[in-house]
This record gives sequence, structure tokens and C-alpha cells, in this order.
Amino acid sequence: MEWWKSATIYQVYPRSFADSDGDGIGDLRGIIDRVDYFATLGIDAVWLSPIYASPQDDNGYDISDYLAIEPTFGTLDDFDELVAVFHAAGIRIVMDLVVNHTSDEHAWFRESRSSLDNPKRDWYVWRPARPGTTAGEPGAEPNNWPSHFFGPSWALDELTGEYYLHLFSRKQPDLNWENHQVREEVYSMMRWWLDRGVDGFRMDVVNFLSKPEGYPDGVLAPGALFGDGFAHYASGPRIHEYLREMHDEVFASREGAFVTVGEMPAATIEQARLYTDPARRELDMIFQFEHVELDHPDGKFDYIPLDLVALKASLARWQVGLADVGWNSLYWNNHDQPRAVSRFGDAEEHRVQSAKCLATVLHLMRGTPYIYQGEELGMTNAGFTAIEQYRDIETLNYWRGAEQTSELLAAFAVASRDNARTPMHWTPGENAGFTTGEPWIGVPSNHVEINAQTELADPHSVLHHYRRLIALRHSEPVIVEGDFELLYPDDPRLFAYRRTLGDTVLVVVSNWSRDEVPLPAELRHPGVEPLIANDSTAGATTLGAWEARAYLLG
Ligand code: GLC
Repeated sequence: MEWWKSATIYQVYPRSFADSDGDGIGDLRGIIDRVDYFATLGIDAVWLSPIYASPQDDNGYDISDYLAIEPTFGTLDDFDELVAVFHAAGIRIVMDLVVNHTSDEHAWFRESRSSLDNPKRDWYVWRPARPGTTAGEPGAEPNNWPSHFFGPSWALDELTGEYYLHLFSRKQPDLNWENHQVREEVYSMMRWWLDRGVDGFRMDVVNFLSKPEGYPDGVLAPGALFGDGFAHYASGPRIHEYLREMHDEVFASREGAFVTVGEMPAATIEQARLYTDPARRELDMIFQFEHVELDHPDGKFDYIPLDLVALKASLARWQVGLADVGWNSLYWNNHDQPRAVSRFGDAEEHRVQSAKCLATVLHLMRGTPYIYQGEELGMTNAGFTAIEQYRDIETLNYWRGAEQTSELLAAFAVASRDNARTPMHWTPGENAGFTTGEPWIGVPSNHVEINAQTELADPHSVLHHYRRLIALRHSEPVIVEGDFELLYPDDPRLFAYRRTLGDTVLVVVSNWSRDEVPLPAELRHPGVEPLIANDSTAGATTLGAWEARAYLLG
């Protein structure tokens, strides 16, 4: 069986993980120094968010040289050492692959923009102003797609008078995947990293690579400024062809056991089955977004209370939908999502208990779980109250274009990506032990209580609960392979499911509320010691606030 089926993968956001040289920004040496921490947790692989040379417009997701390490983070020698040290500890290294776009400071783009007939002109997406308009006037953009970071997705380059496409910031021009030289460069770059010893790639917005010919306008919803670009470029016309080609060119003839996971906003189960069917030789798994979009149907910064019934239904559909072909990734958190315990749990009154509850429910499903740094400590949202505390381009761009109210600041405190990007809490001491300098972004004061040092010493901590879940995936085949069945789908507080492998049954029951809730008779297992549980605060016939238990039967 593939190693990643019983694996737990840990995401490191290098800027915020550990700073070894006191410049206030995390670095590779900081990660190397923490190898024992990963070994204690027992994780199988580390995914590094981008560490390539970058102007850091989007914290490294804007790459100016794919074959160099960002000097703030270290050198290629440091990287080689990191791979060697982690491999020696039995931990694989997964790189972030950001090839929908580069930085506008990448040499390819500098050339491309330099003239209409530069040989690399076609490496990016250049278009003249919309017919009948004059370049630069409002509405002259070649189509009506919005950028994910707000405003139009086209920027006018004065030098040649044409627009280039940027689905993200102006400093992240989209590569033109129609151009075979672009694709070959990307594959060769991937081989170069594999030759250095990396074990796979997490592929940034990889379902956006193929855009339709003619770059048609998206449908305009009533009153909307921009059209629906997603409908055109999410899983665009040639995407499966590109991913198969990538597989053939990069992985097919290579010895080794690699993992590929594609980040895919808006992907459906039907698409996921195609992307992850091993027979199609595209990807091992994808990051789907359905379950992390249920709580803000009206916009990025417009959160509504979680509907547990809808969340359960969504996750169960994916569990069942990828049961016979394909594979799921499992996550609550990453560097783009607010902290899970603040969002889905109860950070105010039951932080430890609810963090363990969320972990239990996620990690005992079928798929590969991902832990985002600090999640295993039960780290919370940042608690920022002033715009000056934010660094994230998405948040700041939105602020610039919006009415700047206290309500909006309150919405950022719930939903901004910076909630997940504050420094990792290592100690109760100054700056949470992250840096001896001035951290690039504020450190929440609750690090005094929530930190690795304190939690390592406490067997009842969130950290040790994660450690146990990671170990269980290695030892219990039913967690890896068992069928999934959601129980009590309509119950608004109970999240319960059953996993079955042959005669072995794993029953997971959990209470997603502050109330004590009755446990249905068929889910009680008197006399059976739970395989894993958080603190039991109720009797045999009820579950206490945020209580979670898993029973192994048969
Ligand atoms: C992905 C990354 C996100 C980044 C964007 C553009 O969604 O996870 O952090 O801003 O792509 O690269």
C-alpha cells in the first residue's frame, strides 16, 4: 500500500515556524533544529509552504526563481541538510509547487513583458484591451474575471500597452500553460527538486492551470462588478491532459514513492474522482474546499454560524464519493484558513476539549490527514483588533477597497488568513520562543498557556492527543481502509460515524456543543475501553461538552 495512506502530513509555514537568526522571520535552520519535535509527534511527512526566492508579495506564493532558496530562509546547502536530517528521522519532505503563476520579478516575466515579439511573450497571458475600448480606461480589461485578491484579474503593462492575466495579485502573473515550453520548464524544475531528494509536491491552485481559448467573460450575477471566472478556469479544458503529462514527464520513470496533492478550489466529487483515480495517473489526492466554505456562503469575510448537519453531510459525501476510486485529504486548517478551534470548536469555554474533539473526528476518517503548524497545540485565531496588525495581501487589499468599519475589522478577526499565520508557540516566554528579534507579525498573548513546551510536559494536552491519533493511523488498519458510514446525519450536535473493515468496527461519537447530549443506546458500549477519547465529563449514557470517543469493536 502507498505510504501516504497511513500517513499524517504536517504543514510548515516557514515564515512563522521558527526563527534561528533573530531577524523575526522563520527559516530553514529553525525547521532543522526542530526535527525532534516532528519525530515526537510521529508525523510521516512535512509539507513546506514555499521557500523559493520570492519578493514575498504573497508570502512566497510569488516565486521569482524556482531553483533558489529565499535568502531570508537560508541557502540550498541548508535545504540539502534539511532533507538529509529529516530523512534520517524517517520523515519525508513535500515541496509546495506554485506554477499557475510566477512573481512578476521572475526572469521569465521580465523577458515576457519586455516587447511584443520577445520569445517568452507567449509564456504568460497577454491580451489587448477589449475591442471598442481604450487600454487603461475602466472596463477595458480583456474580460470580466475578478482577481482572488480583489479588483480585476488583468493589469495593463504600459510598456507594450497590453494586459496580462493575474488570477491573484498584480505581482503574480499567470503562466500560459498552452505553451509547451512553459510546461517543459516546469517539469524539468520538478525533476531537479526530486533529484535533490524531495518526496512529492503540494500543488498550488493546480486546477486553475488550463484556461479556455478566447478567455470568455464570466456570467455576471445581478449587481455584480465582475463575472464568474471560476466557471471558465477551474478544471479548464486541458487540465487532465496537463496533469497526465506532468505525471509521465516527472514521475512515471522514476524509482521511489512520491506523493502529489493538488489544491483545488471549487472541485466537485465527480472531478476529484477523475483527478485521483490511480488508473488515470494524474494525482494522489486533492484538497477540496467544500467543507471549509459552508460557513461563508455570501463572501470571504461574511461568516455565519456553523451548520453541523451540513458539515457532516458534506464530509460524508466526500468519504463515500471517493471510497471505490481515489483518495481524500483531510484537513480543518492550513495557512489560508482561520484556526479550527476558533472556527468550528469552542475556543472560549472548551478550547482543549473541543480541539481534541475536532482532531478525533477528522483523523479517524478515511484519507490522509494534514496538520497545520500550531493546530496540534490548539492554537486560536490571532485576536487582532487593528488593521496595522495585519500583513496578508488578501486582507489588506480588501480593506483598501471597502468601507473601513469596525464591523469589517471584526470580520477579519474571524476570517483573515493571518489568523493562521502568527508565529508558532514554542514556549510561554517572550515571543513564544519563536524569535529573539521582532516578529514579522504579532504573537497572540495566549502563548503563555498554549505552547509546545507546556503541552509536551502534559499528557492530557492537545498535542499528546494528536500524537496518539497519528500513532493509531499507523497501527489500526480500519482507520486507513475501513468503509465509512455517517450515523445520525440529522442530529445538530452529535457527529458520529462507523468505520468497518471485515469484522473490525470503529465507532466514533462526538458532541459538538456545550450541552450534555444523550448518547443513543446503540452507540453506547458499556465495558469497552475507548481506543481514544478526550476528557469524559459525563455518564455512560451521555456525552459531555465537546466530548469525543472512539470504540474499536470486533
Ligand atoms: C493558494 C495558496 C494561497 C495563495 C494562492 C496564490 O490558494 O494556498 O496562500 O495566496 O494560492 O498562490
